[in-house]
Amino acid sequence: MLGVTGGIAAYKSADLVRRLKDTGAEVRVVMTAAATRFVTPLTFQALSGNRVHTQLLDSESEAGMSHIDLARWADALLIAPASANFLARLTYGLADDLLSTLALATDVPIAVAPAMNQQMWANPATQHNVQTLRQRDVLIYGPGQGSQACGEEGMGRMLEPIQLVEQLSSLFETGSMQGVKILVNAGPTYEDIDPVRFIGNRSSGKMGYAIAMAAKEAGAEVTLISGPTSLPPPEKVECINVRSARQMYDAVISQAGGCDIFIAAAAVADFRPKHYESQKIKKQSSPLKTIELEQTDDILTAVSGLKKRPFCVGFAAESDHLDRYAQDKLKSKKLDMIAANWINKKNSGFESDHNALTLYWQTGQLDLPHAPKLQLAQNLISFIAEKYHAQHRVKNS
Ligand SMILES: Cc1cc2nc3c(=O)[nH]c(=O)nc-3n(C[C@H](O)[C@H](O)[C@H](O)COP(=O)(O)O)c2cc1C
Repeated sequence: MLGVTGGIAAYKSADLVRRLKDTGAEVRVVMTAAATRFVTPLTFQALSGNRVHTQLLDSESEAGMSHIDLARWADALLIAPASANFLARLTYGLADDLLSTLALATDVPIAVAPAMNQQMWANPATQHNVQTLRQRDVLIYGPGQGSQACGEEGMGRMLEPIQLVEQLSSLFETGSMQGVKILVNAGPTYEDIDPVRFIGNRSSGKMGYAIAMAAKEAGAEVTLISGPTSLPPPEKVECINVRSARQMYDAVISQAGGCDIFIAAAAVADFRPKHYESQKIKKQSSPLKTIELEQTDDILTAVSGLKKRPFCVGFAAESDHLDRYAQDKLKSKKLDMIAANWINKKNSGFESDHNALTLYWQTGQLDLPHAPKLQLAQNLISFIAEKYHAQHRVKNS
């Protein structure tokens, strides 16, 4: 259940609903009267697919899903944004509207994402309220630091929706990867030509980051090695940032020996310029500049060839003959599993928030249908967990 209160950050909660739904959650939204002045209930209704609840003293609502039914329906109550006013009402146990009444009537975990002007946040009254709520096991997500809608700078920004989803998801860890160390690489690599130019690719890192988040959710200890992306680092995941294929190779090799599973979701360059020009190449260079390329080292082959090798999962992104290329890669790189995806399908692959995968292993294959990347990553992690534990049982028997 998502509670939305009257703050300027309420517009971000529209995206939050979408991202919560991407995890497979069913979302019902409850808004305070002030919240409805910032964003219309219709927006949340369209995004959540459920009627939005705004009234406590409403006979029609009570005849449908009463405030007590609502309180019992939820697995968790996240209030985002949580206004200074709402934090005060929650602290003092007021039940003067639907959201505050639900917060009193529910026994599921309550999380608040405060969002307000930095002076309001720093005010001793707000600080006292937050401290009291924390002592009562209310989860306080954020706030973050940065520029504010009012033009000021400081503490009080609501955490980004993706960060809130990660924090909330950690309440529902499935545990299939408890005690397992997982190394994930993600994003593109940039191969520098000169100080201003590079050869890159269109990988956004979204799939790899979603896998790291899903692995964390499943209880794993996760290290994410990321090429350049614009994504915030996932919560409670150790992140190592790299730029080039060579740096990605070095970082992965230094970590691979200590992990149980390696999931190679990065789009690492196959070729890099043979020579790096330390001065910017001039437009007028004559004759026309030819950039000679050389092959980069193959990370997956190196990891799967290690003496103490982790369970290796590769990715194949192809524009044609996906099935054949993926199976060839599975065999030639001696992988345990490969996840194949088309790069030229609409609303899939690079940059998209959605994807579909076909998994291949030595003795079978499985389609993971088109879904938001986080949901797909959760399904992928569950399946890897199954295969990894089965392999371990055989090794240990
Ligand atoms: C334009 C505008 C923006 C506001 N932004 C915030 C905000 O970001 N955080 C906050 O705590 N209060 C903010 N307020 C004040 C709340 O809307 C006000 O305290 C309201 O009573 C909150 O009601 P609620 O907690 O029931 O939703 C803002 C008010 C206005 C007029």
